[in-house]
Amino acid sequence: GVTAAIVTCGGLCPGLNNVIRELTNTLIHLYGCKKVLGIRGGYAGFYTDAWQPMELTPEIVNNIHHEGGTFLGSSRGGFEIDKTIAFLKKHKINQLYVIGGDGTHRGAFRIHEECMKLKMNVGVCGIPKTIDNDVDHIDRSFGFSSAVQAAQSAIRTAKTEASCNLPNGIGIVKLMGRSAGFVAVHAAMSSGDVDLCLVPEIPIVLEGEKGCLPFLKKRVKEQGFAVVVVAEGAGEELLGESTEVDASGNKKLPAIGEFLKSKINEYFSKHDPQGATVKYVDPSYIIRSCPANAADSLYCMQLAQNAVHGLMAGYTGFSVGLCNNRMVLLPIPYLVETSPRHMDAHGRTWERVLSITRQPNTAK
Ligand code: F6P
Repeated sequence: GVTAAIVTCGGLCPGLNNVIRELTNTLIHLYGCKKVLGIRGGYAGFYTDAWQPMELTPEIVNNIHHEGGTFLGSSRGGFEIDKTIAFLKKHKINQLYVIGGDGTHRGAFRIHEECMKLKMNVGVCGIPKTIDNDVDHIDRSFGFSSAVQAAQSAIRTAKTEASCNLPNGIGIVKLMGRSAGFVAVHAAMSSGDVDLCLVPEIPIVLEGEKGCLPFLKKRVKEQGFAVVVVAEGAGEELLGESTEVDASGNKKLPAIGEFLKSKINEYFSKHDPQGATVKYVDPSYIIRSCPANAADSLYCMQLAQNAVHGLMAGYTGFSVGLCNNRMVLLPIPYLVETSPRHMDAHGRTWERVLSITRQPNTAK
């Protein structure tokens, strides 16, 4: 019989528990899998004595999808190939399901290569996870839709604050997105309440003819207030690159939200005797630690089922995802080669923005 292991790595994302639950159910109910082990706390769980793996059963995972986060715990970095291989041997694992972003997938492929080299019978499958939606080739990553949905109340809050706090109210919402602005743009556009959206893909111009500060002043004059959404990775060109890194090797992001707030205050006090009333909202962890919405729950279920089907059919070193609305298996090197992806700043999303802001045709 098959002994499987499941590990969740990196930052939280809505739907992690749905994936764990469905992997467990499919492995045990559909394929009669002997044992499913949950690895605690990401890759470090393969060798951290205090975090012993836990056996997963359909009963144990039955209600976990109602909660955000991951039942198994997670961590960044901590990848140790030799210790991981030793764990797989010791526990006689022959299927490994790795849920994580592009860095985690690189680790998963390294495990796959090592198992092949050592002629170990271990199938390795990745399941792409990031609220940033920046894993390339797939239509969307699970959790993205829930995060965009959860961001709506923060935008609504910013609008209420901006429109009620006189004079010249401005609300700023900072959303996650280290190198891509998908969450910011999708949340801003679906809200219908945002006047300015700043993303890492487009450099921020503060002043001058196309500057966002004079633009905000114009919007405030027109409607009495303005709402801004900014992705956390935007404006690196203004703030400079940080040299500090986290456990995944990601550079620490400068505080773009606070920076914008001070620039807006400065600009308004210079150009308007009443100044501005700026309120800053940061819902970062709220939007990624919530439970999955219905669309993501369904997607997580399909991803998990197809991951199991793939390994049971004998494939290995692959990841799963929707591509052009079809569930496919993708070779991990192909998936990570161009990840993280960026938003096409001049593509279809922006055409839609232009079409809604274009003046109505009055020439009839
Ligand atoms: O990697 C996904 C992400 O949401 C990034 O957008 C963000 O920079 C990061 O997680 C923050 O996570 P943490 O605070 O856990 O490092």
